[in-house]
Amino acid sequence: MTTEEVRAQFPQLKRTVYGKPLVYLDNAATSLRPQSVIDRWTEISAQGTANLHRAVHHIAAEATEAYENARKAVADFINTAETEEVIFTSGATHSLNLAAFGIGETFLKDGDEIIIGEGEHHSDIVPWQMLRCRKNISIKVLPVDENGRLCVEQLESLITEKTRLVCVAHISNVLGLVNPVKAISDICRKHGVLLLVDGAQGVVHQPVDVRSLGCDFYAFSGHKMYGAPGTGVLWGRRSLLEQMPPMFGGGEMIETVRWAGSTWAPLPRKFEAGTQNISGTPCFVQAIETLRNMPQDDGIRDYVYDALQAIDGLRLFGTTADRSLKVPVFSFYVEHAHHEDLALILDKMGIAVRSGQMCAEPLMDRFGVTGMLRASFAPYNTMQEAEYFVSSLRKAIGMLR
Ligand code: ALA
Repeated sequence: MTTEEVRAQFPQLKRTVYGKPLVYLDNAATSLRPQSVIDRWTEISAQGTANLHRAVHHIAAEATEAYENARKAVADFINTAETEEVIFTSGATHSLNLAAFGIGETFLKDGDEIIIGEGEHHSDIVPWQMLRCRKNISIKVLPVDENGRLCVEQLESLITEKTRLVCVAHISNVLGLVNPVKAISDICRKHGVLLLVDGAQGVVHQPVDVRSLGCDFYAFSGHKMYGAPGTGVLWGRRSLLEQMPPMFGGGEMIETVRWAGSTWAPLPRKFEAGTQNISGTPCFVQAIETLRNMPQDDGIRDYVYDALQAIDGLRLFGTTADRSLKVPVFSFYVEHAHHEDLALILDKMGIAVRSGQMCAEPLMDRFGVTGMLRASFAPYNTMQEAEYFVSSLRKAIGMLR
């Protein structure tokens, strides 16, 4: 598909902001939604609503089928060994909390250690700190270097006989760098350590095959990959998920409930208590189809990368000589120009970017900044938009200096 054909599928791209055509460069925060997802969500909400896995009536069967078809589509999308290994959640944050709870209860005991990448999103830090409040575990940090590259060569020296788990992002939401998950999983395997991957950005930019990556858990959201908000996935190996207790108790996650105690439903329902996202989760089918049809072109990435580096006083975080490891997510700091002021000026020019700490305060500390400006591109962005962004940014910096 051409960029124009892809753009035609996303109604929000026709919007204006302050009388200017919208240039949406906040895709790492949430992507826009194609008409197919909007239509599917609306169709189920308008005509196909019934609770899932419960009643025997016609619409309940239809709604359940739509939901379970989405599970099959996701299983195929990330190449799981079994469909039941796909747990639906409300988003990557929910997935990571669910994983932290279950892993904590099952595989971690007082005195154990886990290792977390320094560039992680708060969703892959805070749940582990919450666990540390309940269990006496230690958290070690796998650092990133000056360019934002994860220092994988230091991983083995951090692993001890007490290490049980390593947590890293597939692609950093700040740095836009692809972490070498396969190399990390090889090290984890060698030492008998579990590997959890935050794939919130990973699934968006490249095909993901959880089996060849060699990780044990992989978490992501629907809303960043053109799907419905309030949807997400935790994938885990069956042998591990089966040992882990559910985080939430309630309807449909049980096998039997007696006053003396309850037993759990088989995978995946053990982890899906309560009424699920009836209209949103089935939209994974359309989101995956959209993602698979997106044009692949590195022209914008290379243009923006070079153009930003050429701006005086601008420091780009997440640089690499190997461009294949960089996705079009650009976070930077500009001397004598506050990131929020720049974001507000760009907004008046119709450009939506993110400013602030990017849900990664430890990484901000690492680089000694209070915040950054981030422009994150999707395949529906055009070269014309990229050029407009760069010239507008230059103008905005000029206004503040
Ligand atoms: N995690 C999202 C971001 O990076 C919200 O903006």
